[in-house]
Amino acid sequence: MWTDGRLCYGGDYNPEQWPAQVWAEDVALMRQARVNLVTVGVFAWSRLEPAPGRYTFDWLDQVLDLLHGGGIRVALATPTASPPPWFSAAHPDALPVTADGVRLHHGSRDTYCAAAPAYRAAARRIAGALADRYAHHPALAGWRVHNEYGTTCHCEHTATAFRRWLVARHGDLDSLNDAWVTSFWSQHYTDWAQISTPRATQYLANPGHLLDFRRFWSDTLRSAYAEQRDLLRAANPRLPVTTNFVLGDWVPVDHARWAAEVDLVAVDHYPSAVDIGAEEQTALVGDLARGWARHAATRGRDPAAAAGRGDAPAPAWLLMESAPNQIHTAGRMHTKEPGRMLRHSLAHVARGSHGAMFFQWRAPTGGAERFHSALVPHAGPDSRVFREAVELGAALHRLAEVRGTVEASVALAVDAASGWALRHPGLPSRRLDHHEEAAAAHRGLWHAGYGCDVVVPGDPLDGYRLLVLPALYLTDDTTAGWIHDYVHGGGHLLATYLSGVADEHARVRLGGYPGALRDVLGVRAEEFHPLADEEQVTLADGGTGRIWAETLRPAGAQVVTAYAGGLLDGRPAVTRHRYGAGTAWYLSTRPDEHTYRRLLADAARAAGVRPVCVGAPDGVEAVRRRAGQHSWLFLLNHTDRAQRVAARGVELLTAATVDQVVALPPGGVAVLREHTG
Ligand code: GLA
Repeated sequence: MWTDGRLCYGGDYNPEQWPAQVWAEDVALMRQARVNLVTVGVFAWSRLEPAPGRYTFDWLDQVLDLLHGGGIRVALATPTASPPPWFSAAHPDALPVTADGVRLHHGSRDTYCAAAPAYRAAARRIAGALADRYAHHPALAGWRVHNEYGTTCHCEHTATAFRRWLVARHGDLDSLNDAWVTSFWSQHYTDWAQISTPRATQYLANPGHLLDFRRFWSDTLRSAYAEQRDLLRAANPRLPVTTNFVLGDWVPVDHARWAAEVDLVAVDHYPSAVDIGAEEQTALVGDLARGWARHAATRGRDPAAAAGRGDAPAPAWLLMESAPNQIHTAGRMHTKEPGRMLRHSLAHVARGSHGAMFFQWRAPTGGAERFHSALVPHAGPDSRVFREAVELGAALHRLAEVRGTVEASVALAVDAASGWALRHPGLPSRRLDHHEEAAAAHRGLWHAGYGCDVVVPGDPLDGYRLLVLPALYLTDDTTAGWIHDYVHGGGHLLATYLSGVADEHARVRLGGYPGALRDVLGVRAEEFHPLADEEQVTLADGGTGRIWAETLRPAGAQVVTAYAGGLLDGRPAVTRHRYGAGTAWYLSTRPDEHTYRRLLADAARAAGVRPVCVGAPDGVEAVRRRAGQHSWLFLLNHTDRAQRVAARGVELLTAATVDQVVALPPGGVAVLREHTG
């Protein structure tokens, strides 16, 4: 599709930052590196529309023609993430306002409010002008709308739109008052006009208010995207449209709900760790992105693909941005060691990414991100990074045949709203974090070599032997039924503390924790005991627990391990419950990494889950993709030692035949077309 069956390779290309002489060199270097897709124009609004309604497209005409002449396809961006200074000057009411009521000024990017009518109109105008001019340009592979939807606003436009959204959601004020439990602290609303966005306030804010605002804002950004998409599609229905998802706790976007709106799930990923944590995060992000794509397919776009049936293509996603070299973390930039760019890129391809794209093609001389890494760094093409970029292009070229679904028999449920709700003030501990809990479970599964799909509550669970619920705090009745049916029907479940505790409005379920899951898990907790930052509880099996502990009583479940010492001495910490034809494990604390891996392995073994590649050493990631009778095994050596893994097939990067054992150099990668039968 975007690159005619080849894996996509390239990145953000900003020709407007360079004189025209550089463009020809860019195209020559792109060809040398086998770049086949670039995003153009993402921050070029002021160059495309220097004054309201006056367009200067000649430079973009030249760039697109040059790229087309070089055989490089274009994801043409709409530049709406950075309105020009004239726009902000003319429409100060469209500048964003923080929760403290401070209006932000022009001078960076994202200085707009997505609910401001003037901004929405200007965004539609520039997107429409681009569509009119370029929708049939032969260089175009598709459209990339905006950049990383994610900024929030608390202005009056937002408040008005919020009230409209609340009316649509709750119908009447009685329902809203009930959902938000406004009887607490005299917050009962008698007129919609009394409700504003959750601005800075004296003390703790209402959790229902905060949660609905997040949901509303995700929907608002989605409609801003969708109106651009619709007019781009109308100009040429054959061109796919997407936007690049940004990840992070601050992002007020429910990507699972958004996934059905894009023709390709595209994600940006910049790991926040520099050690093995970067590889762990890479694996999780790949599984998340694939999960969103499958979720969208499941909800009607392409059910055959969602199930991985027959020759239907697996739901597509693409790593749209990543860093070729240095990443900014802990206050400074860290070098990506030689070979790591390739390994990270192939880790994404292994998990179903339709290629590897980067921010950015060429490092600029100025601007806020002048030291951000690039495929062509400040040093120019005579550099390690560019040589590695050329190698990566060659590697992706050799992997063009790889396709199909990713082997996984564990499902990990991730829910944006639970993540938001566990960020609210007034919770028993500030260390509660749905996404961190999901990451901890995923890390355990990853190190044990189990393939894992991320699912959204309600997704089909056929074929999964184990379902993991990481602090799935918001559990509405439908989700509770989904979990019940899975376990009752023979599935294995592992749920961690705080799962099932609240309903969809973040109201606590009564009768004991874990609320909606008490029956399935066969336990009841009367009290919780959040732990201090450095505090640990000891477990009877020699392990330790952090973050959380509970006064738990079995109500049908067996004790797997108990707390040892202290207030909870002898009380259950981890339990297992036979329920219907299935089994449900409960973790009332966060076990240390070693113990967590052991518990996950025990639960997985009991469920009949097998590692993707039995015998692969820790630190060697194994991922298998399958399409019909064919399969490909990715082996990524994240250690600094040579490793050997038993496997058979043709290694695609070297074209060597492997009879028994693949030898992986330190940091090395192999991709085998496996022999079948
Ligand atoms: C994001 C943005 C890019 C750039 C990079 C820097 O992914 O989309 O424009 O700012 O971050 O890492």
